[in-house]
Amino acid sequence: MGELRDRRILLGVSASIAAFKAVSLASELVKQEAIVDVIMTPNAARFVTPLSFEAIVHRPVILDLFAAADPTAHVSLGADADAYIVAPATADCIAGLALGLADDAVRTVALATRAPLLIAPAMETRMYEHPATRAHLATLRARGALILEPGTGRLASGRIGQGRMAEPSEILAALIRLLGRTRDLAGRCIVVTAGGTQEPIDPVRHISNRSSGKMGYAIAEAARDRGARVILISAPTAIAPPDGVELRRVTTALDMKTAVEEAVIGADALIMAAAVADYRVAAPAEQKIKRTGEEFVLRLVPNPDIIAGIRQPSLIKVGFAAETHDLVANARKKLEAKGLDFIVANDVSAPDSGFGSDTNRVTIIDRQGLEALPLLSKREVADRILDRIASLLRSRPADRPG
Ligand code: C5P
Repeated sequence: MGELRDRRILLGVSASIAAFKAVSLASELVKQEAIVDVIMTPNAARFVTPLSFEAIVHRPVILDLFAAADPTAHVSLGADADAYIVAPATADCIAGLALGLADDAVRTVALATRAPLLIAPAMETRMYEHPATRAHLATLRARGALILEPGTGRLASGRIGQGRMAEPSEILAALIRLLGRTRDLAGRCIVVTAGGTQEPIDPVRHISNRSSGKMGYAIAEAARDRGARVILISAPTAIAPPDGVELRRVTTALDMKTAVEEAVIGADALIMAAAVADYRVAAPAEQKIKRTGEEFVLRLVPNPDIIAGIRQPSLIKVGFAAETHDLVANARKKLEAKGLDFIVANDVSAPDSGFGSDTNRVTIIDRQGLEALPLLSKREVADRILDRIASLLRSRPADRPG
């Protein structure tokens, strides 16, 4: 039986030479027994004819909503869809999706649906790297869209660079993963911490660390999209918090401890992605400390280990281990010492996995063994973590007393 049997999939095609790959994608979807509706922009139809798609999906292609037999086709298509794939998505198409424009059928349907959106960009490297395109993709990501990063290789211009649309097989795999995840955390409460705590020295200075909060925010966003109630306990960050989560802002490790202890009551899982300061200033000054020219010694006292102190039976506890050496050995020690279900270890000295980056290369370690994941977007890492939590929760009953 096809993995997508009777799932209603919309395939939006915009005007890139990669439109020919969308024909094979449509074919893969049909092979998996999905019901596929193809929506094209008028310029996409200059690359590939609607007939090519119609011959495969056996349904009329939507090209011009004004010419459609049913002028409200976008509404019914949008309402019934399980997922909307836009592949290829040109820079112009992405900009319109981010802005919510409805000037062609592909974008109108995107506005009319609440189905999860998968976007497979295809364009020249310079266009892909342009700050405008980056900003539009970030907007779409923040709204919950899954962006399938284009590959690097030979482009239509003959140049070599990033911009080749993801392969149909990759898009299909991402869709199947996404549909499997759809609302699998509904009815669950997930507590996520993020950011780096700040420990005051005096009213204008503090001790902190380089955590950007991106990993924790990506987890909160992903858990929200999978239907969970999300409590996001955030130390100060420079990034915008996701919509639709319960945000609790904290500053110090002690504030975070109180907020976590309160939030986990009745929760199903605690994911501590925050970088908690190990020490705080013993006695922060009430007034700004003046320069004297003399040596200045700051006395620090240890902060409590927040996650180690949470002992709520049946709460799933996930920690992070940011290491610069002996990654696995150090992470294993923390897994045991803190009583975690699993730990996500990352080497923060690697440029693509450290603080502030949008990608991460992590190893997930539990008592059974370890899984080294490839370099992934933080959103995909978040989903892999939540896949494990969802599977642990499936083996536990839903309505447990707090
Ligand atoms: O700092 P350390 O490497 O021990 O952090 C490992 C995990 O423990 C992280 O998930 C972090 O959020 C958590 N932690 C904590 N309380 C602390 C220090 C770290 O909960 N005081």
